[in-house]
Parts: sequence; structure tokens; C-alpha cells
Amino acid sequence: MPISLRDVEDADVDRLFQWRNEPEVDHWMYSVPPTLAQHRAWFSAFMTDPDRKGWIILRDGAPCGSLTLEGLTGAQRRAKWGWYIGDAESRGRGAGRAAQALGLDQAFGDYGLQKVWSEIRAENETALKAQAWAGFRREGYLRRHAFKYGQFRDVALMSILKEEWAARRPVVIKELVTSGLIARL
Ligand SMILES: CC(C)(COP(=O)(O)OP(=O)(O)OC[C@H]1O[C@@H](n2cnc3c(N)ncnc32)[C@H](O)[C@@H]1OP(=O)(O)O)[C@@H](O)C(=O)NCCC(=O)NCCS
Repeated sequence: MPISLRDVEDADVDRLFQWRNEPEVDHWMYSVPPTLAQHRAWFSAFMTDPDRKGWIILRDGAPCGSLTLEGLTGAQRRAKWGWYIGDAESRGRGAGRAAQALGLDQAFGDYGLQKVWSEIRAENETALKAQAWAGFRREGYLRRHAFKYGQFRDVALMSILKEEWAARRPVVIKELVTSGLIARL
């Protein structure tokens, strides 16, 4: 079940709308699902914004999720991480972890960033465990930070530095290669 990334393309607009509306994806987002018109406006701004980059996560060559970095052109050399597995069948099989390793290689290699950070709902154990496994550390805790469907939710602030990924990377890649999730890099 090899996992790979490819650039987001214009033809992905409807696929991303469908995934964004998946209950398990929507559950962990801060905002309520957009209308199709709102989604299309967001997508067209995203595709022309040099500050943001998106990939489609492929499982055996088939699209199963999305990965984004935001903040690429900033002077701070850090970017905000976002990712989900939109295809329900593909969750819980290591695709998120494998995509995460490939994305961190892009962030610290191709984009030369110093830091990648994320905001993850405090109850999202799957995402927090996956991030910790790659070497992300918790650097903050934001109380009642997200308000959605009538409820306030706490959020964990996570981050990983370039050196931390370099140190953790060999173990992560070895595990992913051993379990057949990525080809040897
Ligand atoms: C969070 C998310 C991206 C993680 O991706 P995923 O592919 O489901 O997660 P993984 O399969 O990589 O890891 C989940 C579990 O599967 C296990 N797993 C199953 N098969 C595996 C394999 N072959 N190799 C490694 N791990 C495997 C992992 O060990 C992990 O178990 P654990 O949590 O008990 O340690 C995904 O679940 C998702 O999109 N969730 C909904 C939206 C969301 O939360 N997005 C992120 C925050 S905004």
C-alpha cells in the first residue's frame, strides 16, 4: 500500500469539497463546512497563492487525502501544517503517518523551512499521536480556542524544528519502509 504525494491540481476542486464534508474530517475542523461556492472561492485563492502549497495524498496511486503548508513566503521560515485522510477506507492504515513524513521532507528540504507547526483539537488523539510519532512536540495549549456546533473546544499547539525532523527521520522512514508504506528514500 505505498503512499505518495502529488501536487494539487485544478481538477481536485470537487474531490476536496467532498472530503471536507466527510463527517470524520468535519468533526475536527474549526469551521462549519463551506458551501460549494465558498469552497470554489477558497480553492481558486489557494491555487494562486504562493504562500500556500497543497498535495494530494495517494494510496496505491489513488487519491485518499490532502496535505497543506501555509506560510511559505513569510520571513519567519515557518509554515502551518494541515492534513486529513478524506477517504474513510484509507484511515487508520498508516497513510496519514506516511504522508506526514513525505510532507516534512518537502517542508524542510525543498522549502527550506526551520519550523512546521499545527493546531490540533486536544481530543484528536489519532492526529496527536501521529504527530508525536514524527517528532512534533506540544508547545502550547489553547483553551476554548475553537467554537463550533455550540461547543467550545481546547486546541493543542504542536511544532517540529528542522533539526528535530533530521534526528527523528531515520527511525520514521525505516518503520514506513518496513511496513511497506513508502518506497526506500
Ligand atoms: C489524523 C489523520 C490524518 C491520521 O491519518 P491516518 O492515516 O488515519 O492515521 P495512521 O493510520 O497513520 O495512524 C493511525 C493509527 O493507525 C495505526 N496503523 C495502522 N496501520 C499502520 C501501518 N501499516 N503503519 C503504521 N501505522 C499503522 C497507527 O499506528 C495508528 O495507531 P495509534 O493511533 O493507535 O498509534 C486521519 O485519521 C484523519 O484524517 N482524521 C480526520 C481529520 C483529522 O483529524 N485531521 C487532522 C487534524 S486537522
